[in-house]
Amino acid sequence: MLLVRKAVRTAVWTNLCRPFSASQTHPDKRKGLVLGVFEKEGEKGGLQLTETAADFDQSLSGKLSELLEISRPGLKKGKSRIFYGIHKDFPCVAVVGLGKSRAGVCNAENWDTSKENIREAVSAGCRLLQDMEVNHVEVDSCGDAQSAAEGAILGLFHYDQLKSKKKTKVTTQLRGSADAEGWEKGVVYAEGQNLARLLMEAPANHITPTAFANTIEEKLAPYSDRVAINKRSQAWIQEQKMGAFLSVSKGSEEPPVFLELHYNGSPDSKQPPLLLVGKGITFDSGGISLKPSPSMDAMRADMGGAATVCASIVTAASLKLPVNIVGLAPLCENMPSGKATKPGDVVIAKNGKTIQVDNTDAEGRLVLADALCYGHTFNPRAIVNVATLTGAMDVALGSAATGVFTNSDWLWGQLYKASVVTGDRVWRMPLFHHYTRQVTDSQLADLNNIGKYSRSGGACTAAAFLKEFVTAPHWAHLDIAGVMSNKDEIPYLRKGMSGRPTRTLVEFAAGLAHSG
Ligand code: BES
Ligand code: ZN
Ligand code: ZN
Repeated sequence: MLLVRKAVRTAVWTNLCRPFSASQTHPDKRKGLVLGVFEKEGEKGGLQLTETAADFDQSLSGKLSELLEISRPGLKKGKSRIFYGIHKDFPCVAVVGLGKSRAGVCNAENWDTSKENIREAVSAGCRLLQDMEVNHVEVDSCGDAQSAAEGAILGLFHYDQLKSKKKTKVTTQLRGSADAEGWEKGVVYAEGQNLARLLMEAPANHITPTAFANTIEEKLAPYSDRVAINKRSQAWIQEQKMGAFLSVSKGSEEPPVFLELHYNGSPDSKQPPLLLVGKGITFDSGGISLKPSPSMDAMRADMGGAATVCASIVTAASLKLPVNIVGLAPLCENMPSGKATKPGDVVIAKNGKTIQVDNTDAEGRLVLADALCYGHTFNPRAIVNVATLTGAMDVALGSAATGVFTNSDWLWGQLYKASVVTGDRVWRMPLFHHYTRQVTDSQLADLNNIGKYSRSGGACTAAAFLKEFVTAPHWAHLDIAGVMSNKDEIPYLRKGMSGRPTRTLVEFAAGLAHSG
């Protein structure tokens, strides 16, 4: 056996040393291939090639499986290995570990493990090839082309817009023709999330409220037949009597923008729209209740709610989802200045409720309050607001899941179902009256913008505050503060702003579209 192995190894080495043809070494066109392998059930270290990998192996008379055998131990989930020079068209072939085949939905993890494994493995393979300066990658569907595309496109994203030295730009393509539709869908879903990541990662001096609105307008331009955009000015916001929103924006030199998007994907139906509302603080310094300096830079992503909501509408438009959506994003900076709102000030929201602003750093709930009041005028079938609302949400769940506060079991079910598919994960949080007491017992006004009695359960207190501005029967508040950024917890997202849960919002909207 040892002798046989040695013979194989020699043959392979000879192969590896064979020179490439000129076209393969051309620096402008380096092609790579990502292929998957499953762990063979009941056989420790055993590997089972995917259909695409098996075809490739066959075209090379079994050379790939020989190499995998030599390069033991078996390929663990999410790990990858590169083979050089085994195919004339692909100087680099990355083989990636997919874990167990038929892993399926895991009820303990609240996600589809097979899909997550594919995203993780494909992203690892694509990134390895990117590091080798490969600029075009063919990707094995691994049995789920959409997840493979998501892994590739999300994994390759890197925010280097403002760097002189950039990573290799990599184009991707499905290997073979199986499920081209799923692949395309995955590309569009992932590009949607990447748009949200781009907006969230960009510095606050680049993505001002005006620049944010212009970017979304540009992204929606190709769909102008189905999309209407209103970039509402400060004068309009004043006319609307959005005193809570204005109280946040007034400390900044940047004018606020109230972005209003209408996607009419089902114009003939009498179906009322889905309303998506996103917190759009392009920088949260805390205002007069100034935040501490360390990590304050992360608050450039405090428009993550607006970014994920707007990116999901761009994605819905691109997919032509047969559903009507209204998107609202109150956009402004939260800054300290001589004009800024002071702790103890009382402001009047659009619905006439008075709010004592005891902490100017609890500004998200103020801008959302007015946006929610306005949103009700569209008589929506459901309202979903998304916000990097509280540090307490991060303390509670970290980056594991988005906290969902909802008055509707039906809406919870829809969001949960969508998040299992995308792997984003959601977790249901309480809307107890216990927390309402915290915000309704204000000294000077109808409401207080922070908990009167205790800081405990801060995410729930914030949700209770928002609830005071909701009369609709199907409303959900998604607190995304914990999932805003990624270190290395989600293996197919690099370190940086995550763009979560854009794909879940799209999947949720698609679910509504198909249920009519
Ligand atoms: N934008 C922050 C919440 C946040 C914190 C998002 C960390 C992402 C990561 C929000 O505006 C805020 O400052 N909330 C305060 C509320 C408090 C003053 C009641 C907080 O969480 O400390
Ligand atoms: Zn704040
Ligand atoms: Zn904030």
